[in-house]
This record gives sequence, C-alpha cells and structure tokens, in this order.
Amino acid sequence: MLVVQNLHARVGDKDILKGVNLEIPEGEIHVVMGPNGVGKSTMGHVLLGHKSYEQTAGRIILDGTDITDFDTAQRAKAGLFLAFQYPVSIPGLRVSEYLRNLYCLRHNVQVGVAEFRKIVREKLDMLNIDRSALSRYLNDGFSGGEMKRLEMLQLALIKPKVAILDEIDSGVDVDAQKTVAEVITRLRETDGTSFVIITHYQRLLNFVKPDKVHVVLDGRVTRSGDMSLVQALEREGYDWVRQMGETASASASL
Ligand SMILES: Nc1ncnc2c1ncn2[C@@H]1O[C@H](COP(=O)(O)OP(=O)(O)OP(=O)(O)O)[C@@H](O)[C@H]1O
Ligand SMILES: [Mg+2]
Repeated sequence: MLVVQNLHARVGDKDILKGVNLEIPEGEIHVVMGPNGVGKSTMGHVLLGHKSYEQTAGRIILDGTDITDFDTAQRAKAGLFLAFQYPVSIPGLRVSEYLRNLYCLRHNVQVGVAEFRKIVREKLDMLNIDRSALSRYLNDGFSGGEMKRLEMLQLALIKPKVAILDEIDSGVDVDAQKTVAEVITRLRETDGTSFVIITHYQRLLNFVKPDKVHVVLDGRVTRSGDMSLVQALEREGYDWVRQMGETASASASL
C-alpha cells in the first residue's frame, strides 16, 4: 500500500505540487488524469525521489515504511517503479546491462549474463520486442512505441510493489495497448502489484478496470471517483471539474 500525504514540491522557485494526497491499497489500479502541466509527471518524479525536484512538505509511506528520506535507488529497491513519460536515452549503456542491474537490485540477487538472457527472453517475446534490442544502447534511436515497450519490460522484470505508469499508452499501437493491459492485469493478480496509471485517454481503461480515478488540477488531487468520472470528463472536459470545485468551496463557505 502506498500512502502519499500532503506532498509539496517545487522546481527552482516554482511550486508545482501543492498538497497531493493519495492512498493506493495493494492490488488496486488507480488512474490519474488532468490537463497538461498540472503536475502529474512531477508527482511521479517526486515519488521516486528525482533530484531536480525539491520536496518541501509531505510524507511518502510504502507498506508502513516511511520512505520520504530514501534516495531513488533505495525507493526502487523498496518496490517503487516509475515508467517515464519521456524515457531517457543513455548512449553507452547497453539495455541488457541496465536491465540486469535493475533486476539484481530489486530482487537482491546476483545473476550472470547468460542466466539473465534466459529470464528476459520470454518477456521480450510477450512484449513483442526484438531480441536485438538487448545489445543496443538504452533508448538510443528507439522509436516512441519501442521505448514504451522497454518501460513495460522493466516493469515485468522488476515486479514492483507499486508501479507508476506515466502515459504508457501514448504513442503505442493498439496491439501494444492490449499487451500493456495484460501485463498490468497479470501482475496485479499474481503479485498484488498496485498501479498508478497517468493517462489522457479512456482507451487503456477499457482493458484494465480501475478501482479509482483521480483528477489533478493545479498540483493537487481535486476530485476522485470511479470510471463514471472518466466518462463525464470525456463529455464535459476539465472546466466541469474546475467549476465543481468552485461550487463545492463556495457552498462550503456559506
Ligand atoms: N524540471 C523542470 N523545470 C522547470 N519546470 C518544470 C520542470 N518539471 C516540471 N516543470 C513545470 O511544472 C509543471 C508541471 O509539469 P508536469 O510535467 O508535471 O505536467 P503534467 O501534468 O505531467 O503534464 P502533461 O499532461 O502535459 O504531461 C509544468 O508547468 C512544467 O513546465
Ligand atoms: Mg506528464
């Protein structure tokens, strides 16, 4: 279970997160939606302890352990995972080496090159990733959809406790969307993995059934509900939530 309490963060002198509260119980799938630039990706980065962001308040608790003061590697080892909206390319770092290091860190084992290839092959086939990808440099020259598939490969290998998937459904074809949904559903069922799925689109949500939907506006979660909230957003747009927020605070102040 991931608990996020009153999370505030800034870049330079710009406040981006202004009090995010979330509770993601084990095995639940939560969706985070919201207009461009409201802080969804920033939330993912801050939860993983990215150094570019300064956390100014709040606590992050994973399965009862307060990980607020953990660095990124410690958070990953504890079971947090972030699939990037914009995966970073690292020329010079081979995909196979990168994945093997992640695997060893997370599972606290030492696995040799040959053994790791066996582990990774079945997952490559499932995700329809060409085996030659292993000997290429990380995300270097990969297409947009290929990079997203590599993020999913990491997810399948690492088996985190909580996975934050930032726009994993953007730029991937319809077949890959179904595979993404299959990986999510399987991990949830076999390992009790919890998911925070950041998305702009309803499509993926037809394949994975979310337990809760949250709307982020201006650096905090302003509304939560079930799938009917997604349908209402498709119909009405975000102004509808903004107005509701104002109405709610107006009536609260009466
Ligand atoms: N490293 C940074 N330096 C400067 N500004 C930043 C940085 N990271 C984020 N921001 C700003 O913080 C705001 C929130 O950005 P963020 O990427 O979290 O938005 P988002 O909700 O994920 O949007 P989108 O739906 O477009 O992906 C934006 O105005 C962005 O320009
Ligand atoms: Mg984003």
